[in-house]
Amino acid sequence: MKEWKSKMKIIRTIAEMQAWSDEKRRSGATIGVIPTMGFLHEGHLSLIDTARKSGADTIVVTIFVNPTQFGPNEDFDKYPRDFERDAKLCEEKQVDAVFAPSAAEMYPADSSTWVIEEKLSRGLCAKTRPTHFRGVTTVVSKLFLATLPHLAVFGQKDGQQARIIKRMVRDLNFPIRIVISPIIREPDGLARSSRNKYLSEQEHRNALSLSRGLNLLKAEIEAGATDLKKLLADLRKSIEASEGIVDYIEAVDAETLEPIERIGGKMMFPVAAYFGKTRLIDNILVEK
Ligand code: PAJ
Repeated sequence: MKEWKSKMKIIRTIAEMQAWSDEKRRSGATIGVIPTMGFLHEGHLSLIDTARKSGADTIVVTIFVNPTQFGPNEDFDKYPRDFERDAKLCEEKQVDAVFAPSAAEMYPADSSTWVIEEKLSRGLCAKTRPTHFRGVTTVVSKLFLATLPHLAVFGQKDGQQARIIKRMVRDLNFPIRIVISPIIREPDGLARSSRNKYLSEQEHRNALSLSRGLNLLKAEIEAGATDLKKLLADLRKSIEASEGIVDYIEAVDAETLEPIERIGGKMMFPVAAYFGKTRLIDNILVEK
């Protein structure tokens, strides 16, 4: 039997990554990058399909648990990691290269430059995670400059993050097209997340109140409900009835993330809540 040899490259240094991408670009490739923190699931893998549908013929997945986006009391140390499994999943999806640098490679010890988006990074998740998004915008900029892609795909799961990256790319003239890909859910409705692994069975069941409540809210708006305050209060009640501790529930403009006062246009309803010790986020897009 002929041995099948994968052509997938695993790249650990920025210099090698840039040289690889440079060569691909010269040969006419369209590079799509999918930045991740690893522990890959169906949500991450769906971004690879979206990259291909959006015109990428060469796929780079980055796997880097970025220390600068975790707060001092967050789960950086216990964030789940399984590089072997991730590499295998990427290989099965025919990814061309996995970029998995060390923290020392990404951040020189005397690193002193940040990329900060100052408007969209203030509300929602930033209220409890004040330094999170400067870590995200800084690392994503660095990942872009290492992988030199034509396009990059981000998930609607992290709705605020995706809008911030779009804004950053526009403001700083990165020559990269940002594509936002829909939320992938477990069969029971829970949005897929690497952090779902922390949930007990009971917490998982309770956390279904997020997707159920958001779907109900959307259905009510589509059926003509107009009382935004009541819709948000009902969502809060249903999450609290399932032992969720709500961090925030908001109604915002889907592009600018500005809070909205009444129903209309392209809206996003983002939610963050704790189930036990685990903080989960979810959201739904509604257009009226
Ligand atoms: P991570 O949480 O690993 O997510 C990587 C990408 O996968 C993000 O764009 C995220 O929105 C997307 N994603 C996660 N779960 C998803 C789901 N259920 N459906 C669709 N997309 C999903 O987000 C990060 O990493 C980091 O902040 C990063 C951008 C890599 C910077 O460090």
